[in-house]
Amino acid sequence: MELICVLIMLIMWVIRVSIMVLFGKVVVSWWILPVLAHNNLKRNGFEGPSPTFPLGNITEMKKIMKAAAAISGSSSTSFASSNNFSHDIHSTIFPHFAQWQNSYGKKFVYWLGTEPFLYIADPQLVKKISEAVMGKNWGKPAVFRNDREPMFGDGLVMTEGDDWIRHRHILTPAFNPASLKAMTNFMVESTTKMVKEWRSLVNSGQPEIDVEREITATAGDIIAKASFGMSSGGGGEEALNNLRALQLTLFSNSSYVGVPFSSVFLYPARTLAAKKLGAQIDRLFFSIISQRKLSPDSDSDLLTRLIQSQSNQRVALTPREVVDECKTFFFGGHETTALAISWTLLLLATRPEWQNILREEIKEVIGDKDIDFSMLSSLKKMGWVWNEVLRLYPSAPNIQRQAKGDIDLGDMKIPKGTNIWIDIVAMHHDSTLWGDDVNEFKPERFQQDTIHGGCNHKMGYLPFGFGGRMCIGRNLSSMEYKIVLTLILSTFSLSLSPSYSHSPATLLSLRPAHGIPLILSPLYP
Ligand code: HEM
Repeated sequence: MELICVLIMLIMWVIRVSIMVLFGKVVVSWWILPVLAHNNLKRNGFEGPSPTFPLGNITEMKKIMKAAAAISGSSSTSFASSNNFSHDIHSTIFPHFAQWQNSYGKKFVYWLGTEPFLYIADPQLVKKISEAVMGKNWGKPAVFRNDREPMFGDGLVMTEGDDWIRHRHILTPAFNPASLKAMTNFMVESTTKMVKEWRSLVNSGQPEIDVEREITATAGDIIAKASFGMSSGGGGEEALNNLRALQLTLFSNSSYVGVPFSSVFLYPARTLAAKKLGAQIDRLFFSIISQRKLSPDSDSDLLTRLIQSQSNQRVALTPREVVDECKTFFFGGHETTALAISWTLLLLATRPEWQNILREEIKEVIGDKDIDFSMLSSLKKMGWVWNEVLRLYPSAPNIQRQAKGDIDLGDMKIPKGTNIWIDIVAMHHDSTLWGDDVNEFKPERFQQDTIHGGCNHKMGYLPFGFGGRMCIGRNLSSMEYKIVLTLILSTFSLSLSPSYSHSPATLLSLRPAHGIPLILSPLYP
């Protein structure tokens, strides 16, 4: 009896000690270490709002966002009668950053849950860190890894170190001019189909079209055909629909990211739904890959390249990595481009003179001929419009990185493990960098300075990121943009629909919350 009592006491003691050790570990890794990292950043001159455990600055962020939403809601108008809605979007989409910038400047530390982030909207600091860290040595914030796993897995967007070099090396040739040229026909085919459908709708008395929805579907069709050889009915639509559902599930309610166990305790249903959708998408891609292995395609599209890499022992991608790259390209490859085209159509609808300028250029460069890859580089003015739209409405509104080692900048040090959040929208809308006309749509600013648009700092314009990790798909995007815009502008003139409501919002990418309904008029019978 006495022995049993001793045993029970011993077990109780072990349980108590284990709980205390676990609690200690939680406190150390979720508070003490981040606080030490924060203090280290403070010593290097980075101030910021004070965090509380375990939400960090999330409560304050929510409060500021709510107040901003109430203000923009009360001043929200229909824009049909006025084409003059504001492009000054930073304080609408990131009101907390705009407010903190007023207090702490263009670089400060804020906390998502128990994770400190170094916020940067200062191009000089971006330049310094970019010079100090090579592409291979950048990491991606671990706190987002879990959340984004079902969407990107360990694809190029999320890989780090030698794995990143291996993936980038395999994928880069898929974006060389010869590979891009081979995609021209798919792009022309899919867009021509969409334009024909629009004509039928307009002719049947329905001139209002939500161009954002339509263009996103067409861009999905293009990437499915061009990268994976999928026909419309061959799984492309299913993959797209699932990816869209996954994006909504993951990012429409991600406000507690960084809070310990938030995915398990705060939104378990969301976490389960995302895992399920992620698994469905994986299964679809595994089956597409197996079919392709059974009947290899002679064309060297992205999928062929990924599969062929598996026969090279030195750089081989595992089957899992091939699937993750498929997801990354499927998602990253269509939405960003579709948004750039959609915002462009919106801006052109408000500026008919720019529609005419581009139509004139299309007539000169392409005329009645079929679109050929070699003609696209001569569409210079369209290139200015592309740059200007990506300045005002960058599809990727921020860049997130993590320091894998200490970053020594001479006068300051960014400690190993620091999460970094670069606010692209803030830099693109900063009047000290661009001048007083910063919030005006002025494509001509790219006429003299085709790369930086007259920005007074080379790192102030970063729609595709910077350094070795710069976007791999930017040339593909620009090509698709020019083809789609050429075909639309040669067929229709565009104006704003009375139902349009200007509501830029972020759901990972910068998108119009209520679509972009436009009124289309055919240019010829
Ligand atoms: C308007 C169109 C696009 C925009 C604005 C855009 C923007 C970006 C940005 C800002 C980055 C992060 C760069 C950094 O961390 O410095 C990025 C990376 C990436 N983008 Fe794009 N992108 C676009 C189109 C595309 C397309 C069409 C594809 C694929 C077909 C693509 C695939 C990727 C990949 C795989 C990465 C990760 C690259 C790496 O880390 O090595 N993007 N993109």
